[in-house]
Amino acid sequence: MTLQNNAPAYLTGFGNHFATEAVSGALPVGQNSPQKTPMGLYAEQLSGTAFTAPRAENRRSWLYRLRPSAQHGPYQPFDQGQVRSGPFDETPPNPNRMRWDPLPLATAPTDWVEGLTTYGGNGEPDHGAGSGIHLYVANRSMTDRVFYDADGELLIVPQEGGQRFVTEMGVIDAQPGHIVLIPRGVRFRVEVDGPVRGYVCENYGAPFRLPDLGPIGSNGLANPRDFETPVAWYEDVDRPTQCIQKYGGKLWTTTFDHSPLDVVGWHGNLAPCRYDTARFNTINTVSYDHPDPSIFTVLTSPSDTHGTANIDFVIFPPRWMVAEHTFRPPWFHRNVMSEFMGLVTGAYDAKAGGFAPGGASLHNRMSGHGPDQASYDGAVKAELKPHKVENTLAFMFETRMPIRVTKWAQEAPQMQLDYDDVWSGFTKGQVS
Ligand SMILES: [Fe+2]
Repeated sequence: MTLQNNAPAYLTGFGNHFATEAVSGALPVGQNSPQKTPMGLYAEQLSGTAFTAPRAENRRSWLYRLRPSAQHGPYQPFDQGQVRSGPFDETPPNPNRMRWDPLPLATAPTDWVEGLTTYGGNGEPDHGAGSGIHLYVANRSMTDRVFYDADGELLIVPQEGGQRFVTEMGVIDAQPGHIVLIPRGVRFRVEVDGPVRGYVCENYGAPFRLPDLGPIGSNGLANPRDFETPVAWYEDVDRPTQCIQKYGGKLWTTTFDHSPLDVVGWHGNLAPCRYDTARFNTINTVSYDHPDPSIFTVLTSPSDTHGTANIDFVIFPPRWMVAEHTFRPPWFHRNVMSEFMGLVTGAYDAKAGGFAPGGASLHNRMSGHGPDQASYDGAVKAELKPHKVENTLAFMFETRMPIRVTKWAQEAPQMQLDYDDVWSGFTKGQVS
């Protein structure tokens, strides 16, 4: 399979109860677990929430497959590479602002799993709270190998190159500008036609959902119909396939004697999907002042504290800036939430340099940050005409718990040791 062939088909909607068959008649009618399933397929329920979760939050799907998922031998520890997990205790808490140059693209043969590098995170998968933040590079497809994450849902942000996610529930093609959401437990491989790079938010908490809209009303931000879930697809491959999972913070591996991507039909509301951020209905001020960036929230994972997210996914897409008598970039701020930022393309309007596509920055709880000197100077002198911010896509993983970085991230040559200097030159205010 290559990226050019067999363009996948999609069903639209977010969290809908879909029903899809790769072969007509694969799904039983009227019940989930009949005594005899169509075609002798094996029924399997995949639960993404507790059985007893309220209906509005309950996520589960029924999979009808060639062989039961249970048919495999024991898992053994696998090489961790640069994958790390909560509790993040490799380095002590560090209040410093951090920024990294882009993660170099792979030169040696590297697949998606081999190219995962953890920058940091918070919480613990066992506690169902927190997140892991990773970047990845790859230049070859996963072959006879699949991956799944038992510790969390994966929100993947491609940054460089086309990427195909061949999941057990269907095939998703993604380009930079898309995001891909893969539920906890869903197995997949990643196919590439060249060098790729991207970011991953591994969400240990409640599954991502669309944010409430409040006074915005019934439309806006990410519209549900723009989320695309693949139709059922399967492969019938009797060849040993390595299955790597992340469980309890570590990688484990076993070998199936067949491809486990063998779901012929499925129905339910737990499924992977993609979303094109170009479809985001961006809302901003039409009068004055700089609204909080929560107005750009695409998806949110709520915590047990109402209004305080385990983690939010926020984008800064192309948009018109029209505010009058207003400092248009974000002003200086200190935040109880912690902010990990990445850049898919272009430039971010609060930084004139140093924050490059494929790079990252981290501003932890209560650390002062904001525009650099050049951005500040430009913003206070700007003639405030309507202005379109174009050819850019920055994003933020904003989380309630401080992020601790990994030893790798702290010592990486990409770490900008002079990051504080971007705020060193401001002159004193003139009080008379
Ligand atoms: Fe910030």
